[in-house]
Amino acid sequence: MVNEQLRVWAPGRVNLIGGHSDYSGGLVLPMAIDLGTTIIGQRGHERVVLVSRDDPEPAEVELDEDNPAGVTPAWARYVAGVVAEVAPTTGFIGQVSTTIPIGTGLSSSAALEVAVALALVGDDRIDRPQLALACQRAEHRAAGVPCGIMDQFSSLLGVEGHALLIDCTSLDVTPVPVPDDIAIVVVDSGQRRSLATVGYADRRAEVARAAELLGPLPSASLSDVESLDDGVLRKRARHVVTENQRVRDFVAVLASGDVATAGLLMTESHASLRDNQEVTTPALDSLVDRLVAIPGVHGARLTGGGWGGCVVALTDPGVLDEGWTVRPSAGASVESLSA
Ligand code: GLA
Repeated sequence: MVNEQLRVWAPGRVNLIGGHSDYSGGLVLPMAIDLGTTIIGQRGHERVVLVSRDDPEPAEVELDEDNPAGVTPAWARYVAGVVAEVAPTTGFIGQVSTTIPIGTGLSSSAALEVAVALALVGDDRIDRPQLALACQRAEHRAAGVPCGIMDQFSSLLGVEGHALLIDCTSLDVTPVPVPDDIAIVVVDSGQRRSLATVGYADRRAEVARAAELLGPLPSASLSDVESLDDGVLRKRARHVVTENQRVRDFVAVLASGDVATAGLLMTESHASLRDNQEVTTPALDSLVDRLVAIPGVHGARLTGGGWGGCVVALTDPGVLDEGWTVRPSAGASVESLSA
């Protein structure tokens, strides 16, 4: 129904384990969280016009916009990217607000893309993986960040009480129960993500070069990896191959209730992101070191793309009195507010 008043909700995410492994077709284990982005408004206008609580300038996007990266203000590029990919036949006028701390690695951009996409479609009975892929392309076009599929899949396909095991080659998604008796706490390093755009693209290109030499990394072995002559490519491939195994191990130990080993795997993941993938910073590394020294904290690692932002810790309940305790949440939704 045109001019129907809608409320759209799209969650952010934390990736418990599986960092920088999605864009090589590997395994990741994110979960949608109870922090997210809301859009309230109406479909049925000639343009997409959104005002935001976080930016004085609105996003005003024509339906035939084909250069999202050139749109201002900067946040409107994500809106424009989604408009260009979804190609809606009618516009939308509404208001955006978010509870996700912006730019800290909790996928505020993917949540915005997904919320805009659902607002434009106006119906959540859609092909969610396809919409997630459209939002991923929107991010590539809008921000020039060649991101993988993890963030948009998490926001659209999240399952209450579960993390999502995503095979980024087949795009199979398997919900994995998260035990009730553990806490997942996100702690901000306070460092904003400088170099994230250029550094991320470099890492993606390096991992792609390693895959050209070794074949698809999900089927490469560690001895294949160690045979690479180039020291940088060897480190990148080592990260991906060991990270895929850590994701498998994490899912297995979580199912058996072995939270201590799950935590150790997270901390090992951080060490590989630091030493092999080289996407951490001294501030993130010392935050992880400080957190894992606290009794009742089982492990901690960088969440998100890196070069700043947040760390996610697996803890006994009530152990940390800092950060945000997040709960595994359902994916994005659309609700009609019209009577
Ligand atoms: C960003 C990207 C994801 C993923 C992570 C690193 O969040 O958007 O696709 O690559 O970094 O794990």
